[in-house]
This record gives sequence, structure tokens and C-alpha cells, in this order.
Amino acid sequence: MYRCKATCRAYANIAFVKYWGVVDANLNLPANGSLSMTLSHAHATTTVAWTNGTPAWEADIVVIDGKEQSGSVYRRTVSHLDRIRTAMGVNWPARVESRNSFPASAGIASSASGFCALTVAACQALAAGGRHDVPDQLHQARLARRASGSACRSFQGGFVEWSAGDDSTSVACQVAGPDHWPLYDVVAVLDAGPKSVSSHDGHRLAATSPLQKERVRQVQSHLNAARAAIHARDLKTLGAISERDAMLMHAVMVSSEPPLLFLSARSVALMRQIRDWRLQEGLEVYFTVDAGPNLHVLCNEADVGEVSHRLARGPSVQDILINGPGPAPELRNSHLF
Ligand code: PMV
Repeated sequence: MYRCKATCRAYANIAFVKYWGVVDANLNLPANGSLSMTLSHAHATTTVAWTNGTPAWEADIVVIDGKEQSGSVYRRTVSHLDRIRTAMGVNWPARVESRNSFPASAGIASSASGFCALTVAACQALAAGGRHDVPDQLHQARLARRASGSACRSFQGGFVEWSAGDDSTSVACQVAGPDHWPLYDVVAVLDAGPKSVSSHDGHRLAATSPLQKERVRQVQSHLNAARAAIHARDLKTLGAISERDAMLMHAVMVSSEPPLLFLSARSVALMRQIRDWRLQEGLEVYFTVDAGPNLHVLCNEADVGEVSHRLARGPSVQDILINGPGPAPELRNSHLF
């Protein structure tokens, strides 16, 4: 029934300097470089089995968190399997099962961990089946980038920078390992509903904003300062850059045509609260926010308890998720099926 099978666990990431906008939509080449932290507790575990195609099934089967997929998630997964099939010169159908450690709507980019785990497991399964020509990690990350840009950052643990460039130079490299700095990201889930526009579609609108050029121009100095702040374990600088960079990205979003308004009244209220905690009470906390309403609150290890406690008490916070720096993808011996 199965020719070969493999399982990978890959970790999501949160960007301090955001990727927003593409210069080549087909290859998913980013308008700017970005810098992220891989998350310790937000992961996707994915088993891929390449099959003989008969007698059990002929089309790909995709099951996520126990639910067999059909609509857009199925199509996006099959498109990515097609990329891998084309790269490897095979035409075998696959069965894919994936489990997330966090709710898909938690404001954590599940596409990054999902497409990283899918790519690694699919390639490893081919290697387990005797293929000697499977792409190395760099080429796997390049394939994953085409499905979800931020997925290429999840190929590295710790602190990771993804450079803008062409298909071969736009790669993600580790800036510092997971043990370098116990920085924490406490996610405040404010709205667990699905997003109205996916980031995949949003990237294609960025160029319609008159602010995008200026944001892209500023990103290089943000990257330089954020990289130096990570090396120096300097939360004050990294936090200030993260807030500013997220705000600039949202300024581009709201000024796109059509406008993209991901922040809710609750997001803005919590941003104010976080600033008050910092400026009036001296608690060292900063926020960043992706293409959704939920806030990622950055703090030092010593403050995680206090920050989580304050966030959990907030009337509009539905859930909190605590993450430190996480590892690179891991192959696993136990499969999901
Ligand atoms: O990789 P995508 O297509 O899910 O886009 C990610 C976009 C942001 O999360 C908003 C920013 C980032 O760099 O992760």
C-alpha cells in the first residue's frame, strides 16, 4: 500500500521584522528581508506516505487535526505535493496527516510550521524509499518558501533571518541558536475566528499601498538593529523595533487597495495596555502582531509569569500560549498512521 513513509515535527515562528509583499508571486520572493524566532511549543507534526496509487486510493488524501480536508487547504497542500513530485520526477499520490499543537486560529502562522513539516516529511519519505537524489535542506526550504514564505524560516531553530533575493539567494539563515537568549512570546488570543483574507492573498496587495515603498526602505535598518539587539540580548531595542515594524506593516495593510484591516478594537485596546504596563509600571513588555487580531507579547524569562497572569486576567483574552525559542525541524520515528 505504501511505498515509503516519514514523519517530521516543525515549529512555527514569529517575526520581529515582518515579511510583507512579494516581488515574484509565483516564486514567493519577498519584497524585503525578515527576522524571526522559531517557537518552542507551536508545532505541526506531519506524516507523509507516498503510495502505490492502487488499490487504496488514487488522489492525494490530506487529514489535518483529524479532519479530512477538501476546499482551499486541500488544494494548497496538493499544489505543494505537485511541486515536490515535479522536483523529484515522481507521479505517486500521497497520504498526508498533520496535527497542530495549537489551535489553527490562534494567530500563529500555522502555514510556516505546516509547510515546513510537509516538505521535510515528503522528502524524507522519498529518501526512506531508496531515492538518493532528494533535495538537501536548503533546497527543501526553497520548495517550502514557494508554498508559504515564512515556512523557509522554520527550517532553522532559534533566531532566523530570511534574505530578500532571487530564487537561489533568498534563503533563511540562523542568527543565533535557541539557547542564546530565553526570550518569550506570550500569545494573547483575542479572536479565534478565521481570517477574512489569507496572508498569501495579502502579500499580493502590498504593492497597491503608497506606503509600501517607504516600509521596504526602512526594513534594512530594522534588520540591522534587530540582529544586533538579538546578539546583545537587548529586549528594549528589539521590542521597540518589533512594535514599529508591525505598525508599519499594518499601515501598509490598511492603505492597500482594497484595504486590509486585521486589527480589532480589542487588539488596539491591548496594545495601549501593554504600553501602559511598560511606560507607567516599568514592566518590560512589547507587542508584535501578524495578519490577524491576536497579539504576540514579547518579554524576558523573568517576567513570563507576571505577563501571562496579567494577560489571562484580561476580559477580552480567550487564551494564552507561551513560547520560548524553539528548535529546527525534527524527524520522528513514530508516525501518525
Ligand atoms: O508566510 P505567509 O504567507 O504566511 O506570510 C507571513 C506574513 C506575516 O506573518 C504577517 C509576517 C511574517 O513575516 O511572518
